[in-house]
Amino acid sequence: MTPIPETMTAIGIAAPGGPEVLRPETRPVPRPGPGQILVALAAASVNRPDVLQRQGGYNPPPGASDIPGLEIAGTVVARGEGAERFALGEQVCGLVAGGGYAQYAVVHESNALPAPHGLSLIEAGAIPETFFTVWTNIFQRGRLEAGESFLVHGGSSGIGTTAIQLAKAFGATVLATAGSADKCEACRALGADHAINYRSEDFVAVAKAATEGRGVNLILDMVGGDYIDRNYEAAADQGRIVQIAFLNGPKATANFSRLMLKRLTHTGSTLRPRTVAEKAVIAAELQEKVWPLLEAGRCKPLIHATFPLAQAAEAHRLMESSAHIGKIVLTV
Ligand SMILES: NC(=O)c1ccc[n+]([C@@H]2O[C@H](COP(=O)([O-])OP(=O)(O)OC[C@H]3O[C@@H](n4cnc5c(N)ncnc54)[C@H](OP(=O)(O)O)[C@@H]3O)[C@@H](O)[C@H]2O)c1
Repeated sequence: MTPIPETMTAIGIAAPGGPEVLRPETRPVPRPGPGQILVALAAASVNRPDVLQRQGGYNPPPGASDIPGLEIAGTVVARGEGAERFALGEQVCGLVAGGGYAQYAVVHESNALPAPHGLSLIEAGAIPETFFTVWTNIFQRGRLEAGESFLVHGGSSGIGTTAIQLAKAFGATVLATAGSADKCEACRALGADHAINYRSEDFVAVAKAATEGRGVNLILDMVGGDYIDRNYEAAADQGRIVQIAFLNGPKATANFSRLMLKRLTHTGSTLRPRTVAEKAVIAAELQEKVWPLLEAGRCKPLIHATFPLAQAAEAHRLMESSAHIGKIVLTV
């Protein structure tokens, strides 16, 4: 195995600001602590929270690297004390609380998973952040069951493209909103039963029409703002709404009587600050329930574009344009 160097190239955030503040820097190669593995990266994906971090609005949790990047894939090159789950040389993907935009990253072995057979390391690097987020919010918090109806806003996002595939694979009727005809077509191609162009259609009306007036059982929302009131309207009796972001703002005026009269549950969560142990529970459920689907080709991350690590700024520009459908990946 190639010796591990003392230093590596990583992408730092020079100061809060636009994509141009993302710059290649020389940093020490991190050393794996107890239970951690050191991974020589092949890929690290870009996620919208990285954009927020770059802008100064989403600081890493205590103890996490200040280097952006929440998901990685590559080869195990060193193991910390007690880390025995993966062998040296094994290909893995993993969820990190920071440090992904780099040549090497450490991840706790319980927050890593074997790279799925049949997928490239670029595809594997586009899995953890979105699949962990979708799994915990749709199935753990949202309690989605086969036969129920599910609406995801931002259907063409990294999160949305994953949510459509998993909800469909687990037997739900899937509705997705997106901002163009092309994005709606992509949602349908991934398995959405109804794709709603929110610029020309009212998602509440479509949700009602698609469910014979009952409304949808579960909504995964990243938009917030005026969608909060409209989600209450689109939800079925005893519906659940899970909030994962507020692209249109966290403040809203809503008719809360619907919450009461329909016995709705409105909840939300973030993934990054959760403990290693909490993330390990999600990883174990993914390995049991979702890895077989990935390895059978029944779902896969949709890769929109790849950029070399040094062009992370370009990758952020693309994400902020919202022209992409699916994931944007940095190759190392
Ligand atoms: N809570 C958590 O644990 C967690 C974890 C990961 C990600 N997230 C959040 O989930 C969301 C999706 O993440 P991602 O990485 O999949 O992002 P992404 O691929 O960049 O997708 C965001 C999409 O949202 C749509 N959108 C709707 N309203 C928008 C607005 N006001 N501004 C910009 N885009 C808007 C855009 O498509 P249209 O053309 O359809 O508008 C855009 O493509 C982000 O908000 C992210 O912060 C939350």
